[in-house]
Amino acid sequence: MNSGDGMGEKRHILITGGAGYLGSALTAALLQRGYFVTVVDKLLHGGEHLLPYLTHENFSFHRADVTLPSSVGQAVDEARKKGVSDLDAVVHLAAIVGFPACKDVGIEEAWRQNVEAVRIVFEQTDRLGARRFIFSSTYSVYGIAEDGLPVTEGSRLHPQSLYGETKIAAEEFLQGRAAEAGCAPLIFRLSTLYGPSPRMRFDLIINQFVLEAFSKGELLIYQQNYSRSFVHIMDVVEGLLMGLEAPEEKIRGEIFNLGSEDGNYTKNEILNLICKVLPQTRVRYEDISFSGDMRDVQVSFAKIKHNLNYYTKRQVVDGINDVLKILRSGVIEDPFSDRFRNARLEIQ
Ligand SMILES: NC(=O)c1ccc[n+]([C@@H]2O[C@H](COP(=O)([O-])OP(=O)(O)OC[C@H]3O[C@@H](n4cnc5c(N)ncnc54)[C@H](O)[C@@H]3O)[C@@H](O)[C@H]2O)c1
Repeated sequence: MNSGDGMGEKRHILITGGAGYLGSALTAALLQRGYFVTVVDKLLHGGEHLLPYLTHENFSFHRADVTLPSSVGQAVDEARKKGVSDLDAVVHLAAIVGFPACKDVGIEEAWRQNVEAVRIVFEQTDRLGARRFIFSSTYSVYGIAEDGLPVTEGSRLHPQSLYGETKIAAEEFLQGRAAEAGCAPLIFRLSTLYGPSPRMRFDLIINQFVLEAFSKGELLIYQQNYSRSFVHIMDVVEGLLMGLEAPEEKIRGEIFNLGSEDGNYTKNEILNLICKVLPQTRVRYEDISFSGDMRDVQVSFAKIKHNLNYYTKRQVVDGINDVLKILRSGVIEDPFSDRFRNARLEIQ
């Protein structure tokens, strides 16, 4: 695919969930690079952060639920009124995100939103003649590593939550369509994101820890030695841009872990990094287990480096400082408000 470099026809990318934490940052990056962007979102967490884009000549917004069979087609029809070319690709981000939110909506609804919607959006994308479909999966699919070795895309999956299970089912559907569909599916298993976005989330571990250390001066930590994998939101945005541009033979039906080895940290190590910038923080440890998303894995990113030449540029300390800068600025009046989290349950 060509990039939207302003020379010739603009590339048209549709983002489902484009009003979300990742989607709103991706929207900004695509517009900046000259793409035409259509966002389809039902605005579960509000949509004010889309305001700067709404009057942009290369932007179209369609408020809809992607579980409806014609949501993508209707959004593309609306965008055509702005004179844009046919659809080039879809980045499917809409989902019930995280194990607490999935638990809140229940098994049937989580399955409908996170699995059935993928089939509905993919089939429309294929029918519309778009050439690429990027799916945002998660490294939660690995759950707990059996042998303690870094997990690769070929490792056995041990999801510990409904959220992880729904993402695996969606991946399986897409891989099943990879051989014969005109549209090429590409799956990224993202590490846990951190850092600033137009739609801020303070329920993601690093963002939440910085908020609590900054606002309460105290952190409560469970499973301190469990290993997790983290990635800066802008590194993910750049990974998605690369996914849109990579040659089709390198991505069709492929799964890539998206992140980097230097984002593999235990919670205790994250905490130490936060305490370096906020040294007054008091820490309380509790070693309980809970029926949530118990992840204890180190992730290998050898495949994405080798096949797509993808490397992250930012470190966890950069994200900590970014989030701290936002909090210190005072622009967010009540960062503990529900609008900045996907569910109430907050055990991290
Ligand atoms: N944030 C992370 O750390 C992380 C990690 C791994 C994978 N992911 C995946 O990345 C994607 C984006 O995550 P996020 O953090 O931006 O989440 P988010 O909750 O901030 O955004 C999701 C967006 O999807 C929209 N949406 C949900 N269901 C919809 C539906 N049926 N129809 C239309 N819109 C709908 C919501 O309104 C919201 O704007 C998700 O698929 C998530 O599973 C995120």
